[in-house]
Amino acid sequence: MRRLLLRLYDYGYRVLLRPLVFRRSAQDAHDRILSLLSRADGSELLLALAGAARRLTQRQQPVTVGGVRLDSPLILAAGFVKGAGFDDEADAQAAFERGDNIMPGWRTMPALVGAVEFGSFTRQPRLGNPGVVVWRHAPTRSTQNRVGLKNPGLKAAAAFLREHRDELPAIMGINVAVSPGVSDPIQERREIIEALATFLDFGLTPSWFTLNLSCPNTDDDPTGNQTEGKARDLGGAAVELLRPAGIPLWVKIGPNLSDTQYRALIAALDAVGASAIVATNTQPQPSPDNPAVSAGVGGGKLYAEALRVCALLVDEKRQHNYAIDIIGCGGILDGASYRAFRTAGVTAAQYWSALVYRGPLAAAVIEDEAEWIPPQESVNDC
Ligand SMILES: Cc1cc2nc3c(=O)[nH]c(=O)nc-3n(C[C@H](O)[C@H](O)[C@H](O)COP(=O)(O)O)c2cc1C
Repeated sequence: MRRLLLRLYDYGYRVLLRPLVFRRSAQDAHDRILSLLSRADGSELLLALAGAARRLTQRQQPVTVGGVRLDSPLILAAGFVKGAGFDDEADAQAAFERGDNIMPGWRTMPALVGAVEFGSFTRQPRLGNPGVVVWRHAPTRSTQNRVGLKNPGLKAAAAFLREHRDELPAIMGINVAVSPGVSDPIQERREIIEALATFLDFGLTPSWFTLNLSCPNTDDDPTGNQTEGKARDLGGAAVELLRPAGIPLWVKIGPNLSDTQYRALIAALDAVGASAIVATNTQPQPSPDNPAVSAGVGGGKLYAEALRVCALLVDEKRQHNYAIDIIGCGGILDGASYRAFRTAGVTAAQYWSALVYRGPLAAAVIEDEAEWIPPQESVNDC
């Protein structure tokens, strides 16, 4: 019954809904979906339907990863439920006090897909980059973005989540990042500590926090942020702060680092007691509209590199008996790609581009395909 429903849903999305969505530019579709989600968050009927859709299609497959017990192994990655951008704290606070929904999808997405990582949130609000910042490349099932860490800032985000604390999902993560442009190690550490402490002070105890060490969509050097020293310093400080609250720390890193750097990062993060590495964030490439400006690629074009990095990290973990877990992320779009990550040794994974190419029930479809579609079969070409 569940499989039949998923097949019907998949056919309907591929043949009816996706062509409609793809008639619009990626930017337009993205904006409209966020505005739809903003309204859906306030509709008990739509929330009930979203919850029913998930219960009917998603199989319970409990798995413990990075110190968290998940109901099923696929998590919606950071960057989808992250909130509106603001010029400054006063504007963000004013919007919150007016009762605006400053975090579209905060209620609908967990009801629909299960586990969600909220954020990234930074110390101050950010408007993000202007103009067109989201693209898709359908032949390779890829996305590209230079959203630029648009978010309401940690104070307004924490106030908003506290206000809705009773309606938050039981399992969720919060992703925090250092403000782009900040390179002073003391300031970086202060920002991360302040971010985590603010969420905790506001009585928010997510299932995990993720420290985003890789911010490829800002004008910062995407690899410069991911040194062993920084991982040790920021990761160590965060773990110390979270330990009394019993909340595990995950750390998200980017693709295209050298093998030596990945080995150093996993050693440092394991040593300071981080519970998981999320590998990887998007891959910087020239943006479609202006090759002089770089934007982060996810989906099919990221898949091979993300898989390579995960395999390398799993191998390191096994060789050195590290306790830290590896969570895959990058181009998980169908049963075959998800199974490849599992074969590489990850027990849980995150996805973003699959929402575009497989629709809102992507996680349930992918998990199901991984169970029954032969490895060599290509599942869902555009
Ligand atoms: C529009 C967009 C915004 C994103 N924003 C963030 C973010 O704020 N923080 C973060 O850690 N990752 C962010 N990501 C990266 C995703 O979480 C994910 O790592 C990446 O898209 C690779 O997964 P995929 O191949 O399944 O898309 C964003 C991705 C997209 C497409």
